[in-house]
Amino acid sequence: MTGVRFDADRWFFELPELREDAEIRARALACIEAERGLVRDLAGLGYAPCPTAKDRVAPEALERLLAAGTEVHGVASEREVTNAITFNARHVADAVHDRRVAHLRAALDRSVARRLHTVFEPPRRLLVFNSGHFWYPPGSFMGWHTNSLHPAWRLYVTHAEEPGKSFIRYRDPRSGEIVTSLDQSWDFRLFRISRDTLLWHAVYSETNRFSFGFMIRPWTLAGRAGSLWRRARVRLLRS
Ligand SMILES: [Fe+2]
Repeated sequence: MTGVRFDADRWFFELPELREDAEIRARALACIEAERGLVRDLAGLGYAPCPTAKDRVAPEALERLLAAGTEVHGVASEREVTNAITFNARHVADAVHDRRVAHLRAALDRSVARRLHTVFEPPRRLLVFNSGHFWYPPGSFMGWHTNSLHPAWRLYVTHAEEPGKSFIRYRDPRSGEIVTSLDQSWDFRLFRISRDTLLWHAVYSETNRFSFGFMIRPWTLAGRAGSLWRRARVRLLRS
């Protein structure tokens, strides 16, 4: 595909041309390997498959939320929205914290940020932040939510152990159509989160699915200073 306009009129893009990016794949795999090495016993960590995972991401579940006028922002404010394992998120209770995983993730972030600068048309400087890091084991889900507290473009890089056994599902904000995007093996999906036009989405997995989320904003000096400060603070907290 050609470039995505930053003010695009569409809300969800698949970026299959990124699948062959060997550097991103190698760095994501290094991260996944470290996660697997760290979490050898899912049950010991407190992970339990959810018997109603598929119902939680069904269109009917969203219809109920919409009918009740309930908004679900995401895992930071509503922890029960998912049973997936979260890595190195200070704002998520019971997240797994590990310096090696964080280090490998930071290397992946640099590769993805470089590549993202080729995705938008016309090219522009961007600020790219880590906005989510999950392992979805078999029987996991992330229920319908909007992320609307943090409007931005989002990229999700995902790797599924077995193709066709996991997916992201979203509701097109214009048409109301529910779209299910099945995972292949490597998937790159770009979507727009806005405060006013809600992009409801949900995730389901019957396999091991590893997901790396990114928040993308236009580059500004203040934003850059903020991101450097955040990084320095994280380093200080870890040292
Ligand atoms: Fe989300």
